[in-house]
Amino acid sequence: MPKKVIAIVGPKGGVGKSTISANLAIAIAATGKKTIAVDLDLGGANLHVILGIRNYTYSLDDFVLKNIKTLGEALIVTEVPNLRLICGGSKIPDIANMPFQQKLKLIGHMLKLDCDVVIIDLAAGSSYNVVDFLFIAQTGLLVTTPEVTSLMKAYGFIKSAIFRLLTFHFKARHTERLMALMEMAKDTDANPNLNTIEKFLKEAEKIDMEIANSARKKIERFTPSFVINMVQSTRDVNTGAVIQNLVKHYTNIEAKVMQSLPNDEAVKRALFKTKPVMLCEPMSPFAIGIKELAYKCTRED
Ligand SMILES: Nc1ncnc2c1ncn2[C@@H]1O[C@H](COP(=O)(O)OP(=O)(O)O)[C@@H](O)[C@H]1O
Ligand SMILES: [Mg+2]
Repeated sequence: MPKKVIAIVGPKGGVGKSTISANLAIAIAATGKKTIAVDLDLGGANLHVILGIRNYTYSLDDFVLKNIKTLGEALIVTEVPNLRLICGGSKIPDIANMPFQQKLKLIGHMLKLDCDVVIIDLAAGSSYNVVDFLFIAQTGLLVTTPEVTSLMKAYGFIKSAIFRLLTFHFKARHTERLMALMEMAKDTDANPNLNTIEKFLKEAEKIDMEIANSARKKIERFTPSFVINMVQSTRDVNTGAVIQNLVKHYTNIEAKVMQSLPNDEAVKRALFKTKPVMLCEPMSPFAIGIKELAYKCTRED
């Protein structure tokens, strides 16, 4: 059973989730921890490409299609000591459309893998199937770039995660009226009076004070960590504060900014050589940032 699961999420494509997953996995493996990287971006699986792996026998496809019995059979040994990989598939529907039971089975097998750390590279999007992986992970890293579109989508992701938390909370307590209020809050255009989590909770209190209060506590305990990637100008340096303010204003939760990573030509050069940047340019600014992130993610283990 892994001691730690790290989920790399990010609602926008092309922000660097896979690049960060692959290099973070290498950096953690280098500290001696038995690490497994899992590519759950089923439509656009490319973790193996970033890690420079050309051939493999089994992938997640084979697990889902029952060609193999256990997820462990899809493990691929990499050239990096302590690092193994499970490749994403391309024949099965993407994770957003994976049936619930199948997702549960996948999670069950993932939590039985024999290693210290599992790193999950997820597909873009804010669907519940993606968001749910945040809740099985001890560390969820939300990757964004300083671009406004990426930041807005990151905020949308947090909101989606909070609604998911509330769904579990309200369903367990069989409260139809709060579920109905939450459905209204999802449509902020039609219901601007519910457009922040605080406003929603104030309305929820009127329906059931006790459940609204316990929901508030649950939300307060949810502290997602941001990784800001492709930082280039001095203006970008403020991105962390911008995102923290945005999240605080609408949800009242304190987001953490775990790491800023520079836009670095070394990443492109590495891709060209089909070798991870952590291996071919370990002293590049991006690789150094990833090592810092690896330390922060695992220091208390
Ligand atoms: N810090 C960075 N500096 C320069 N290029 C980067 C950086 N991070 C990612 N890239 C490049 O951006 C592109 C998208 O990255 P990728 O990891 O595939 O994103 P995602 O998994 O979020 O879709 C790739 O070409 C990658 O090499
Ligand atoms: Mg990707």
